[in-house]
Amino acid sequence: MGKFIPGAVLLTAWAGSTLAQPPIPPASVVRFNTLCATCHEGECSARLSFRLDPGATDSHIRRYTGDIPQQAARELNALLEHMKLDCGYYAIDLPSPKDGRWKAELLQQLHAAEERAYFIPLGNLAAGRHRFTLTFEHEAVVSVQLVSARFDIAEQSGLRTREGKAAAVLVADKPGDYYLRLRTEQPARLLALDMEPLR
Ligand code: HEC
Repeated sequence: MGKFIPGAVLLTAWAGSTLAQPPIPPASVVRFNTLCATCHEGECSARLSFRLDPGATDSHIRRYTGDIPQQAARELNALLEHMKLDCGYYAIDLPSPKDGRWKAELLQQLHAAEERAYFIPLGNLAAGRHRFTLTFEHEAVVSVQLVSARFDIAEQSGLRTREGKAAAVLVADKPGDYYLRLRTEQPARLLALDMEPLR
């Protein structure tokens, strides 16, 4: 009878470490991918180095985020683990539009206001040139990056809007999942993103 106990203990431990974890909310994922990723993007060592103890990790994170709730710091920490172990971006739990047109309500949820940045999952793109038309509420100067799931970056920086609009043409080298990362010089509200493949 006693021999069944280790299995039961193992199962409980496993359930506790994986199944019980709620998904990380988009706000933390977007912040990680626009802030922490400037240094930690593409770190795929498949392990944590543990050079920092938990207290040091916490103050390291808060050095960049400012004072944030403990839960938010934990989420950001977990996202670095995910980056290192899975070698990719954490899935953002929001629907992507099928027609290539993102509207303000969805973009709002993909915005890290503190970073003046957006991180937008584009889904699967064909290889080739794509045009991204941005509509802001006011004039803005914006840098646009097309990032592959393997962290290859094509960038157009210092784009200036005219009547709130700017367009970037960027090349996807291979077919696959892509993301758009935007950063504006001043706080700016993005009202629309339209994506179209070019011949
Ligand atoms: C300016 C660059 C930079 C930024 C921005 C940055 N980090 Fe780091 N981070 C580092 C460096 C460098 C180390 C390695 C420190 C060491 O081990 O001495 C590190 C270490 C860590 C560690 C310990 C990892 C390990 O494997 O031991 C964690 C966790 C971490 N960072 C999370 C974050 C999070 C979350 C953010 C965003 C809020 C962030 N970092 C932003 C540069 C940065």
